[in-house]
Amino acid sequence: MERMTFTFLVAFAITIPCLEAGIAFFDDYLKKQADVAHKIALYSYVPNPENVTAELNQQVKGAMMAREKVSNSTRRGLTQKYRGPCLATNPIDRCWRCRKNWAKNRFKLAKCSKGFGRRAVGGLGGKIYVVTDASDNDLVNPRPGTLRYGVVQKGPLWIIFKHGMVIRLQQELLISSNKTIDGRGANVVIMDGAGITMQYVNNVIVHGIRIKNIKSKNGGLIRDGADHISLRTRSDGDAISVFASSNIWIDHISLSQAEDGLIDVIYGSTAVTISNCHLTKHNDVMLFGANDQHTLDKIMQITVAFNHFGRGLVQRMPRCRFGFVHVLNNDYTHWLMYAIGGSAAPTILSQGNRFIAPHNKAAKEVTHRDYATPEQWSKWQWRSEKDLFMNGAKFIQSGPPIRKLPFRKGFLMKPRPGHQAYRLTRFSGALNCKVGVPC
Ligand SMILES: *[C@@H]1O[C@H](CO)[C@@H](O)[C@H](O)[C@H]1NC(C)=O
Ligand SMILES: *[C@@H]1O[C@H](CO)[C@@H](O)[C@H](O)[C@H]1NC(C)=O
Ligand SMILES: *[C@@H]1O[C@H](CO)[C@@H](O)[C@H](O)[C@H]1NC(C)=O
Repeated sequence: MERMTFTFLVAFAITIPCLEAGIAFFDDYLKKQADVAHKIALYSYVPNPENVTAELNQQVKGAMMAREKVSNSTRRGLTQKYRGPCLATNPIDRCWRCRKNWAKNRFKLAKCSKGFGRRAVGGLGGKIYVVTDASDNDLVNPRPGTLRYGVVQKGPLWIIFKHGMVIRLQQELLISSNKTIDGRGANVVIMDGAGITMQYVNNVIVHGIRIKNIKSKNGGLIRDGADHISLRTRSDGDAISVFASSNIWIDHISLSQAEDGLIDVIYGSTAVTISNCHLTKHNDVMLFGANDQHTLDKIMQITVAFNHFGRGLVQRMPRCRFGFVHVLNNDYTHWLMYAIGGSAAPTILSQGNRFIAPHNKAAKEVTHRDYATPEQWSKWQWRSEKDLFMNGAKFIQSGPPIRKLPFRKGFLMKPRPGHQAYRLTRFSGALNCKVGVPC
């Protein structure tokens, strides 16, 4: 039954790709956007991904060595809120956090991404735009002061928020290229409406906001650029959807409950880093590659680092197809079915994560393979190094080791071991930054 539905969907996707893309009318403007985005994606793809992972590993080591001892607690103390001095526990955070003048120096964040999305600088060099209005009433001509107005402006723009606000998006928020959404200093919650979409775009940073309870919406006319309005079909209800886009950095986002996925990265997207996020209460958490026929996802390269996969999560953390996914130093404290899965021969390098299996004896396995016989998947490279397995968690490895390249061993710094994952991810999710106080 599952197989039949799947085949049907594939055929459907090939005949009407635009429907799948949420586009009801694929005009010349969008065709050009798609073409440019694809060229940038090809250019952003790294033929030797090992270099990027090696660099990140080295930085993690540096950050950890500079800090005090690691706690070995097996549980995350949800009740013990941290009250000590500002602590940056991983190299991404160490690049900008714990400085008093962070609010005067917001652009500093632009240089802090690491891993595959490290070239994302977002709105660096652009103006600062302040969201003052939480409404979202006009999708075609959004009112100045709204978030939607900011994300469709021409050129680079750094979007911040005047005060805390709850934004209920009437339809998907279509972010254009060269933008940063920077929620630091305000408690910004996007909830009870549509989610965020990046489609055919390049260079976006989304940082420091909360996204929850995202719904599928009907679509219709939505502005997606200063000079363009798209006719959209129904949105799936993803919290964050990255479609045919590259150089995207998603950092310190708290995510829970969406009608579809929490984060989808699909359709030939690449150069993406997802870091410091706190994810809870959801079934299909992260989907990288939507379809076994989408071979364009071979260029997909994604870093998933320092995230906390927390309470109420079920599966897909992430679920991968074709590409290369570096899963580094995340803390997996809850899953109901499995943590990392995939089909269509993705390459997965899992390093220094902590995996705490659920009590259910049938769900101890971290890994899960779909649509392949053991004979087929035994060739897929899914490798685990320095991961910490607790409560019976087990990672079934396959394929040859990932670094078999002309690569001197000593060059490749070791990731931090899994027992440090708690510490590295301790401040995941949106931070409560206050102007004038180290954040
Ligand atoms: C934490 O656990 C690791 C691995 O079990 C061990 O090597 C390390 O010494 C422990 N650290 C502390 C501070 O207890
Ligand atoms: C984004 O910024 C880059 C670098 O400045 C520029 O080349 C590109 O045209 C911009 N993209 C858009 C869609 O404005
Ligand atoms: C990546 O590593 C390979 C293998 O050692 C090397 O040939 C290549 O020049 C490196 N690329 C970069 C961008 O450092």
